[in-house]
Amino acid sequence: MDFGELFTDPSKRKRLLSAFLAVLLLAVVCAAVGVVSEIPALTIFSIVLVAGALGVIGKFLVTLAVHLAGTSSRLIKLNDRYDDTEKWLEQFDRGTRATFTSLGKAQAELRRSLEEASSDIGQVKEELGSEIQTVARESATRESLDAFVKSSEAEVGDLEKSFGVVRESNGKLSKRIDEVGGRAKDIERSLDHIREEAERVQAAIDAAKEEYETRLSQAKNALGKDIKEQDRLRRLAVHATKVELETKIDEVDAASKSEAAKLSKKMDSTSSLASRLRGDGYVQFNRLLGGKFASDVTGEVGNRLGLSIEHSELRYLERKVQQVEAICEGRLATTAEDAVARVFAARSCEGDSLRILEIGVLFGLGSGFMHTALAPFYDSVKLHLLDPFDGYYGSDHLDPLTGQKVTRAAVERNLRRLAIDWNDFEIIEGFSTDDGVQKKAKQGAPYDVVVIDGDHTYDGVREDFERYAEYVKPSGMLIVDDYGSEDWPEVTKYVDETIASDGRFEQVAVLSRTAIFRRKAVGTGKAATAAGGKASPEPTPAKAKTPSKKATKKAKAAKKPSAKKKAAKKSTAYTSSKKATPSRKKATSKRVKPLAEEIAGVGEDSEVAAERGG
Ligand SMILES: C[S@@+](CC[C@H](N)C(=O)[O-])C[C@H]1O[C@@H](n2cnc3c(N)ncnc32)[C@H](O)[C@@H]1O
Repeated sequence: MDFGELFTDPSKRKRLLSAFLAVLLLAVVCAAVGVVSEIPALTIFSIVLVAGALGVIGKFLVTLAVHLAGTSSRLIKLNDRYDDTEKWLEQFDRGTRATFTSLGKAQAELRRSLEEASSDIGQVKEELGSEIQTVARESATRESLDAFVKSSEAEVGDLEKSFGVVRESNGKLSKRIDEVGGRAKDIERSLDHIREEAERVQAAIDAAKEEYETRLSQAKNALGKDIKEQDRLRRLAVHATKVELETKIDEVDAASKSEAAKLSKKMDSTSSLASRLRGDGYVQFNRLLGGKFASDVTGEVGNRLGLSIEHSELRYLERKVQQVEAICEGRLATTAEDAVARVFAARSCEGDSLRILEIGVLFGLGSGFMHTALAPFYDSVKLHLLDPFDGYYGSDHLDPLTGQKVTRAAVERNLRRLAIDWNDFEIIEGFSTDDGVQKKAKQGAPYDVVVIDGDHTYDGVREDFERYAEYVKPSGMLIVDDYGSEDWPEVTKYVDETIASDGRFEQVAVLSRTAIFRRKAVGTGKAATAAGGKASPEPTPAKAKTPSKKATKKAKAAKKPSAKKKAAKKSTAYTSSKKATPSRKKATSKRVKPLAEEIAGVGEDSEVAAERGG
């Protein structure tokens, strides 16, 4: 009980006040009774209080008894109701059980009917499925038939178009074939002509022989008369026959040379035409040195290069190109004439050693051939080989002609097969247009020879010239491959437009498809550039350009052990043993031996054998 409420709640406060007043009144009454009866007032008051308390307790007990009586009667009623409920529950249980039994029966009935229904449904489903499949098959067949008809129509259209194209190219092809046939007939005619010529020569030789024999027999008859006269006559007859024969041989030789040159040209153009007809754009390069090339290098061009070259040397180098290609992997990606032209251009360089930078190396056969052919003329030849060495043209492709991959390892193997020392070559891996690669190449500069044979586009040649021309020594050589080639018109364009008019260089010659430039000696280049100078139309050979330097060199050479070797540089080094100097013999045999040993079944060139003293 909250006592605070006795003071805050007005009704409770009132009741408390009434109780207090009642107690006070009772106390007053008790005091009055005490005064009257002379009984102590406290006793009276206590008695009244106990009586009051007993009254309250009695009232409580009465109330409790009444309450208990009510509760027991309610309990009795509840008990009755419980009995009723129990009875009802028993009835309900019975009813429920009966219901469950009938429900079970109904369920079993239902299950049976369900099973029957589901088997019926299964049958119907199966029937429907087969119906659906039949319908689907029919519609698929129809669709595929429609699609087939459509695609057939399209194919027929395409085929008609392709037939048109094929008919057209067939026409072109037959025209080309006719052309080629015509050319082949021309070649056959030329061959017939040569054959006839040869027969005529043979007949002339036979006639001359007969005449010689007649004269000889006449001379023999006259022997008895005058032996001296007979001898004179015999010598005269022999001489006349010899002169006659030599004239005939010269005539036939000249005729067959010009025919051979024509044939070689025709073969080149037929090969080029065939490659174009094949559509692969690659020409199988010629491995022979032609008549024009031979007359150029043994004559005018040789003079300009300051070299004296003999035919025997050309035959030797021609054979050497073939040998290099026979023992190496891959191929030489240029003609024999161009490979030899590079060698002659390089050989016009003065000095005891050669440094060569080649941009575009492929399998390294051109490089290896250069080294092999130049080594006998110099104390050292060092190759700096720049190429990505990553497939063909740096794109991980195979070389289209050999089907082989261009790799650094293949190049190294080739150079080692040619017995080139590891110290004689340095590989610079990457594109020439890469600044890092250029930096590496610069470390080997200045070079006696720079060969540009990499990227054959206009911009490719331009980049190579702009970046590397400066690395050519004064009086050194710049070589551009594929100049004038039908396959690479941009090389020719750039050379004609820019290199030919660059004041630092003078054009020495064009040999086959090799454009050869010489860097002007120090001083002349700058002056020429400043004056906007052009290449000299009649370039002078290095020999004539630097007489005092040469004279000094000659004097020095007389003292040096390799002097003969250097002197041989200007003339042939591959001629007979009679001409060969001891130092040259040594150098050549060192280089030639591994080649000859490696080529199984290829006999030694008589010139080489002669050089070795064989
Ligand atoms: C025609 S082949 C070289 C043939 C070689 N000089 C010979 O005589 O056998 C061209 C080569 O140049 C390489 N090449 C192409 N572009 C180049 C570039 N920008 N720098 C260096 N090499 C490049 C090609 O990967 C290829 O190996």
